[in-house]
Amino acid sequence: MNQFAMQGVPALNVPDYVKHQKLIAWIGEIAALTKPDSIYWCDGSEAEYDRLCAQMVAAGTLKKLNPAKRANSYLALSDPSDVARVEDRTFICTDKKEDAGPTNNWIAPGEMRATLGQLFDGCMRGRTLYVVPFSMGPLGSHIAHIGIELSDSPYVVVNMRLMTRMGRAVYDVLGTGGEFVPCVHTVSKPLEQGEKDVAWPCNSTKYIVHFPASQEIWSFGSGYGGNALLGKKCFALRIASTMGRDQGWLAEHMLILGVTSPEGKKHHVAAAFPSACGKTNFAMQIPPASFDGWKVSTIGDDIAWIKPGKDGRLYAINPEAGYFGVAPGTNDKTNPNCMASLNKDVIFTNVALTDDGDVWWEGMTKEAPAHLIDWQGKDWTPEDGKAGRKAAHPNARFTVAATNNPVLDPEWDNPAGVAIDAFIFGGRRSTTVPLVTQARDWVEGVYMAATMGSETTAAAAGAQGVVRRDPFAMLPFAGYNMSDYFQHWLNLGKQLGDAVKASGAKLPAIFCVNWFRKGPDGQFVWPGYGENMRVLKWMLERVEGKASGSENVFGVTPRYNDLDWKGLDFTASQFDTVTSIDKAAWQEEFKLHADLFKKLEYHLPKELIETKAKLEQRLSA
Ligand code: GTP
Ligand code: SPV
Ligand code: MN
Repeated sequence: MNQFAMQGVPALNVPDYVKHQKLIAWIGEIAALTKPDSIYWCDGSEAEYDRLCAQMVAAGTLKKLNPAKRANSYLALSDPSDVARVEDRTFICTDKKEDAGPTNNWIAPGEMRATLGQLFDGCMRGRTLYVVPFSMGPLGSHIAHIGIELSDSPYVVVNMRLMTRMGRAVYDVLGTGGEFVPCVHTVSKPLEQGEKDVAWPCNSTKYIVHFPASQEIWSFGSGYGGNALLGKKCFALRIASTMGRDQGWLAEHMLILGVTSPEGKKHHVAAAFPSACGKTNFAMQIPPASFDGWKVSTIGDDIAWIKPGKDGRLYAINPEAGYFGVAPGTNDKTNPNCMASLNKDVIFTNVALTDDGDVWWEGMTKEAPAHLIDWQGKDWTPEDGKAGRKAAHPNARFTVAATNNPVLDPEWDNPAGVAIDAFIFGGRRSTTVPLVTQARDWVEGVYMAATMGSETTAAAAGAQGVVRRDPFAMLPFAGYNMSDYFQHWLNLGKQLGDAVKASGAKLPAIFCVNWFRKGPDGQFVWPGYGENMRVLKWMLERVEGKASGSENVFGVTPRYNDLDWKGLDFTASQFDTVTSIDKAAWQEEFKLHADLFKKLEYHLPKELIETKAKLEQRLSA
């Protein structure tokens, strides 16, 4: 009898290729606490993926789509209460409250451990505990880190296989004593003997908990996306941002793309937009037909880990290996590369099902099909749509491996990363913020990013369309004090500034964008999507010292004639609508910056306070 059987814990059955005693002991402890029926060690193979999917089809968690329409693809409909990240149930547990900062929910580690100890006791009863080994970043890259997620959700396992480098090879990198981030996840719906499971088990009590000091993650009660796929927001942003603070690198909510000019010169850009504000679309964009010879390729669509090199340049990797992207609004016109990525091997969550076994969501086609099964499993017709009932949940998502992307950058898997030439920060603002502005220097760029506002979206539970400050698009994801995070960016700028002086390289340029200004009719004025390339081209020409612009209060912006309009009918007056700077609106905006700075008073870098004063002076001059 093994040492745990006596406590009602199933045999660990450690595979012979797992040689890490600390890891094995930890799994034993978690099994003793959560009391699953069995333990399964995931190897990451295709056969395992297929088997788990078939098992979930039998259980009603997944529906297999028509293979003639979407080969090897599935649809999951979640519990209607479990459709997005839960920011008010997300906690950063540091010894000192100030180290979590005013933008995070904080509970003292001891108190939280006591709560978790009770909640997790027996939470996996009647279920299988899956051991999910994964690497964030190319296996063995000096920028990569390993995690082990213990989860009672097979949906999590198959999604992790698409989203990360998941499987046996991770144990080779880990060896007998390598470091890993322990992640424990439960849907927390224990099954009594003979009780039939529901299609999407979850719990109305939810806790998404991080202990930065011990780099642990505990997630209770949700099976959805960022709450449950712990490699993503919990590890690659919240925990990794604290690693970056301590070790001198950055973990950011950023896409990474490559742009190749007709002359064959390649640049790399990293861009931070808040959740559901256009990262996936920007990373996969197709330049307008008139932009002959320009090519955009994707390195990542959501998260970037960025380390300074000896030359003073910043090198970025995508720690993920797949996309968990927003479905609504995606179509053959706005994002053909994304649509092509979704032809096969996809898991859809909370989209609608067509009568011929395919999927549909708002914005996929102009006309909705005559009949659908909506994301809650109910009949739906276009009449329901007219009455305001959505067929797909606004935060409906697809999960797909990066290798499905037709414009995947050949460097996407490069363990050394790619050198970043420019950072872009952008929010969703129907008013006030102009199309594009270049910061005059690093500090001004940090100020722009720190004070960014954006209208809330369906990616998080809560009210939508409300403007809130979302510094660096990291409000829900910075794992430590936001002011210390600003300071970290400022320090890095100083350090790089010194290094580039020696090497002759350049600091990345910093831009701020807004694709979402609306006209009096309430419609977006800027066409967006592939047309964003016109702005991107101007930015790269600025980096090269070729394009001109005019200097104003906030930095440098293009005049109408500074952008390339070939092939697009966009008038100077429309351009004015998306670029105008309204003095009164900006005076109000500065009040919101002041509110933010008041909230972030503790450790707020004085450079930012000085920058604010300078900008306000310019505005009133
Ligand atoms: P997360 O995965 O939540 O981090 O989101 P994301 O930043 O990757 O956002 P995504 O690219 O998925 O876009 C979210 C929504 O914004 C989709 O409905 C898009 O159709 C829409 N969108 C993206 N880019 C643009 C744009 O340039 N203009 C307009 N008007 N809408 C856009
Ligand atoms: C986001 O909300 O920014 C996402 C989706 O990318 S989730 O994985 O749910 O966090
Ligand atoms: Mn995101």
